[in-house]
Amino acid sequence: MTDESRNPARRRFLTFAASLPAAFGLGAGSASAEQAMIPTAGDMEGPFYISNVPVVTNMNRFGKKGEVMRIAGRVMNAASPETPVAGAKLELWQTDGSGRYYPEAKGDYSDFRDAEMDLRGTIIADANGYFEVLSLFPREYWPRPPHIHYRISADGFRTLITQHYLDTRPRDRPHRTANVLRDQTPALFPAPTIYIEPV
Ligand SMILES: [Fe+2]
Repeated sequence: MTDESRNPARRRFLTFAASLPAAFGLGAGSASAEQAMIPTAGDMEGPFYISNVPVVTNMNRFGKKGEVMRIAGRVMNAASPETPVAGAKLELWQTDGSGRYYPEAKGDYSDFRDAEMDLRGTIIADANGYFEVLSLFPREYWPRPPHIHYRISADGFRTLITQHYLDTRPRDRPHRTANVLRDQTPALFPAPTIYIEPV
């Protein structure tokens, strides 16, 4: 599949921090505001975004086989990097271990049967901006590394659409790449702190 290749790039403002936290829970407080504000391009939505997918705690809704992974991160206010965005809404979608999306379509949740909906979901950040969800390690599809699509929104902020790349370090995109910590159970993908910009 080449989902992103079919859509033009959507240049959005911000941002993932250039430096990764060593572990989940380490936010902007550990880095200078200057470091936290290094701007990073957004990324393409791709053709498989479904709106209004319900809140989930596990995106692997039907127990697909694969490597279980816990994704965890934090959403912060780009204009005030020490301030979390309480209640930020994160919509995630990704492939399974065979490189497929469910469904391989675009639309609204109401356009589909619930049973078609998998490896996607909405996660709401807590009062301190932290979010966490279980999932499976996605498979790459040539020529792209494994990745997870993100759409992050909150009242009073610009919506950010971007992607995270896992376990690989392409030279041109090191700022959006994070390692999965496979020594933890389940494996932990510490998403870089996400900074969204007020309107
Ligand atoms: Fe994709």
